[in-house]
Amino acid sequence: MRETNATNVTNAVNAVNVTNAMNVTLEQIQAVGVMPVIAISDTEKAVPLARALAAGGIHCAEVTFRTEEGEEAIRRIAAECPDILVGAGTVLTVEQADRAARAGAKFAVSPGTNPKVVRRCAEIGLLIIPGCATPSDMEQAMAFGLDTVKFFPAEQAGGLAYIKAVAAPYPKLRFVPTGGINAGNLGRYMAFPKVVACGGSWMVKKDLIEAGDFGEITRLCREAARIVKEARQPCPSPTGDGRFLE
Ligand code: 3PG
Repeated sequence: MRETNATNVTNAVNAVNVTNAMNVTLEQIQAVGVMPVIAISDTEKAVPLARALAAGGIHCAEVTFRTEEGEEAIRRIAAECPDILVGAGTVLTVEQADRAARAGAKFAVSPGTNPKVVRRCAEIGLLIIPGCATPSDMEQAMAFGLDTVKFFPAEQAGGLAYIKAVAAPYPKLRFVPTGGINAGNLGRYMAFPKVVACGGSWMVKKDLIEAGDFGEITRLCREAARIVKEARQPCPSPTGDGRFLE
């Protein structure tokens, strides 16, 4: 019995150490406000793609492990695009977390909250933004000491209304909604202060990357950056003289 209790206590002490560097990375993600979710199958396109994002004002990229080439794409962007905050997406295993960090990823994103991956990222000092779709997922992430989670799949799981509902019991939790977000609904998410950034693939669609249509990618990024900026601005003063109504 005693042994069982000791084991339980050991299992309960699993909070991870969120470092200043991780918080700085989160602030950088928040400053950009948009996290393009990229699946790339041609590593030669990685750097031009990252430059296209930056030209549109989006200095952040989540390159997923959904393709074999993702790791090398991260490596190239990290080495050649210092103005881009590059992270790894779809990090499902401890081994992928290690590979992401070695390639130069500054953060990791996962569709769910896998305790092994969260712990490993903490051990190697890699910011992890784990996916959460339910209050139980969110409590698990919070038990690790994390305060920012990916809300996934955002639109399908309940959208902004769901985030607002869970923000009530979890006032310290912040969100990176991802899934079904585009230029049409981005502004609504970004206007909610608990939303750190929105993830999505709408500006980096597979066909655009494969066609090398970096001009269109830049245009879509510019549009997204403008929407983020407008959504974050305070509402115009109804009194017209800089004062807000009481
Ligand atoms: C993700 O993995 O984060 C999502 O597939 C991105 O969702 P979207 O393609 O609907 O933007």
